[in-house]
Amino acid sequence: MQQQVMTDMATMSTVGVVAVEGARRPYPSRVITSSANLDCREGENMALLTLSDAQLAFGHVPLLDHTDFALAAAERVGLIGRNGAGKSSLLKILAGVEKPDDGTLQVQQGLLRAYVPQEPVLEAESTVFESVSSGLGAVLALIESYADGRGDLDTLQREIEAQDGWNWQRRVEETLHRLHLPANARITTLSGGMRKRVALAQALVTRPDVLFLDEPTNHLDLDAIDWLEELLLDFKGSVVTITHDRAFLDRIATRIVELDRGQLRGYPGNFSRYQVLKDEQSAYESVVSAKADKLLAQEEVWVRKGVEARRTRAQGRITRLERLRSNRAARREALGRVKLEVATGLPSGKIVAELTEVSKSFADPSGEGVRSVVSDFSATLLRGDKVGVVGPNGAGKTTLLKLILGEIEPDAGSVRRG
Ligand SMILES: Nc1ncnc2c1ncn2[C@@H]1O[C@H](COP(=O)(O)OP(=O)(O)OP(=O)(O)O)[C@@H](O)[C@H]1O
Ligand SMILES: [Mg+2]
Repeated sequence: MQQQVMTDMATMSTVGVVAVEGARRPYPSRVITSSANLDCREGENMALLTLSDAQLAFGHVPLLDHTDFALAAAERVGLIGRNGAGKSSLLKILAGVEKPDDGTLQVQQGLLRAYVPQEPVLEAESTVFESVSSGLGAVLALIESYADGRGDLDTLQREIEAQDGWNWQRRVEETLHRLHLPANARITTLSGGMRKRVALAQALVTRPDVLFLDEPTNHLDLDAIDWLEELLLDFKGSVVTITHDRAFLDRIATRIVELDRGQLRGYPGNFSRYQVLKDEQSAYESVVSAKADKLLAQEEVWVRKGVEARRTRAQGRITRLERLRSNRAARREALGRVKLEVATGLPSGKIVAELTEVSKSFADPSGEGVRSVVSDFSATLLRGDKVGVVGPNGAGKTTLLKLILGEIEPDAGSVRRG
């Protein structure tokens, strides 16, 4: 196992340290550069799809708060935001899998959308071939009707031809080949990375106009991520992808869209460009919030001066003070949340696990013999260690974590846990 300290953990946690003057405040274009597009309607003129005035909430926190979004042809949007911000929920709405509580989604006629969820659910007992074919479910149903002589055969034939349906087996085979997937393996025997590839294959085999991908690089090994980047760069349609993977975003994104407390903000370019724009925005916001804090302090002094200051004529001033107070509370909440994220990672210096000559094997997915996944491995993990476990899909990274956590026991050797 390779040990490497993830030095960028701290910087990762601080992405998004912004002092915001009220969540809905628009930013002046002179600060952001005139090309920045903060209302997320960049592609509206030739939009493939347009979401207008969308609202969504689970409980009392709005995930989408009168939100607008438009997607143009051949653009690749990286959708970012904190855990729980509502990215997956928004993606499902854009993909047409779920509906918002309110608002409209207009979709260009005949637009073919394909969606790959964050945690794809695959039929465990299917083979990879069957699973990928299920992406073509609609056209396969037409072929079945045609074969059974159900319905108007001319219409069915035209529909099947329009969707290039007679070729379906070859399309599945080509897709499997491109994604390096074994056609006959059963889903249950596949690693997390292989399953994610099967889900991608299910989407790609349909030849969609728009791909909606929810954290597609999760579970993928480094070679598979390179491969996915190439595939998306070659893809002629549009892509909306959620990801926390900055290198991936840098390679593929043509626009970054950030979801924060129900609001979307768009930044043209890739992730590096986003960081530059965001820094400019933060600098501007710091100045604004310093000014607001100063004004608030003055007004607090005034209001404490006593009753005579609060006569009817001063009512407007009191209302403004209340607004200043609540804006400041919103700013503190934004900062407080980020500080909390940083604080939770602090080390406390005890043994987490000590592995001594640990080995673990599984029956090989091909059904022949056993595969040694961990062999004679020793290591000590201290609390606060940040260890990156790297290796190709199916190498045994999850197995190793399960051994460390005690979810499975080794075939040989011992694991002492703290
Ligand atoms: N069907 C649902 N019923 C109730 N609450 C839900 C439902 N779907 C999502 N939520 C809640 O909505 C919030 C946003 O969830 P969502 O999965 O969209 O966030 P996310 O930005 O994709 O987060 P992550 O980065 O962790 O994937 C969460 O608090 C989640 O618990
Ligand atoms: Mg999500």
